[in-house]
Amino acid sequence: MWISIVYSLVLFFLGVPWSQSQPFEPLDRNTIQWPDQGPPKQALIDLGRHLFFDPRLVENEQQSCASCHQPPLAYSDGVALSVQAHKGWQPTKRNAPSLYNVAWAPVLHWDGRISDGQCFVPEDTKQTVCLPALESQAFESMRSRQVYTGFLPKIKPVKAYQTMFQQAFPPGGEITHVHMARAMAAFERTLVSDRSPFDRYLQGDRSALSLAAQRGLELFSGKAGCIACHSGPLLTDWGFHHLGLPSEDPGRGEQVHTAAEKQRYHQAFRTPPLRNVGLTAPYMHDGSLGSLEAVVAFYDRGGDDAAHRSPLIHPLGLTLPEQQALVAFLESLSEAMPTESTASPGR
Ligand code: HEC
Ligand code: HEC
Repeated sequence: MWISIVYSLVLFFLGVPWSQSQPFEPLDRNTIQWPDQGPPKQALIDLGRHLFFDPRLVENEQQSCASCHQPPLAYSDGVALSVQAHKGWQPTKRNAPSLYNVAWAPVLHWDGRISDGQCFVPEDTKQTVCLPALESQAFESMRSRQVYTGFLPKIKPVKAYQTMFQQAFPPGGEITHVHMARAMAAFERTLVSDRSPFDRYLQGDRSALSLAAQRGLELFSGKAGCIACHSGPLLTDWGFHHLGLPSEDPGRGEQVHTAAEKQRYHQAFRTPPLRNVGLTAPYMHDGSLGSLEAVVAFYDRGGDDAAHRSPLIHPLGLTLPEQQALVAFLESLSEAMPTESTASPGR
């Protein structure tokens, strides 16, 4: 703690503004890349929100996007592995990530398998279309949930949806899978989280972080070496690393092609953004670590499987108060969540 005070005093007397002395920049909403130049109409975002919360998405009408991406949990779902209604509630092989700030993600999913410019031939229009990452993800997500057999015929007769598609896609208001994906992605781009105590601290409110969290921030950027991968406004390098987490999942290794790449990325996963991480337990691609304390203890012992782990992962020798300070810092990355959800038309 005193180190932080002395550090701040030294900076103060040197006349160095805090913003230049620390490694993180605040999030800037103006840097969101909206397709088709500029933010879309509210009508498109509203349509996307209704679709996102609509349980008719799966054949048995028991699960919507929001079942696994719940607003009070920062759009994650609180279980280690999400379960799929249309597959008899079998678990998926991965943990559901938060959707906050997904607008900035250059690659999606733990293995980064979705990025901009992927092309599809939708069954309904039969015209090839190449989409940005979020639109591609929504399109794939609907397809994998058998929307082709169920969702479109169910929402097409709903008057309120007809009006919404009309307003979002004039003049025709066609109800197609690509239009649905565009609307959902527009809604997802509005999920911005930049009001955590850490954000207020970055904006100059030094009292926004407890002294423990300030000490945690120092450790994060110093002795604990977290910043080697968790850097930038979203606390991620968007790279892929093997942390020494025992797992059967090949991760990024399954998505690359040459033998050298396969070896390099075997069981490597995307560095997750850390905003709202206090709300998204359990952690890691397989949800195998139940709490932030467990995550920090895992890093402190240098992971559990040394065979392929990144050279950046090694025992850290943190004291218990240092581990607690890191947890306090990670908790300062969360903001208050909405509790309400949105009902969909005709439900
Ligand atoms: C059965 C639970 C479940 C449902 C339903 C679901 N998701 Fe997901 N979602 C997940 C899981 C699990 C992942 C991570 C998958 C992976 O990395 O392989 C994920 C990943 C994502 C991502 C990538 C996030 C990132 O940071 O990489 C987006 C975006 C997303 N889902 C949006 C949606 C949308 C839109 C819908 C509805 C069309 C939806 N999800 C329905 C569980 C679900
Ligand atoms: C070598 C790069 C690297 C370093 C260094 C690193 N991380 Fe990570 N972090 C990752 C990756 C990659 C994952 C996801 C791994 C997985 O799921 O297998 C992750 C996951 C996490 C998670 C779980 C997030 C979630 O949504 O599940 C937390 C919390 C976290 N790291 C905090 C830290 C802290 C604190 C430190 C410093 C002690 C640190 N990380 C150091 C790359 C790194």
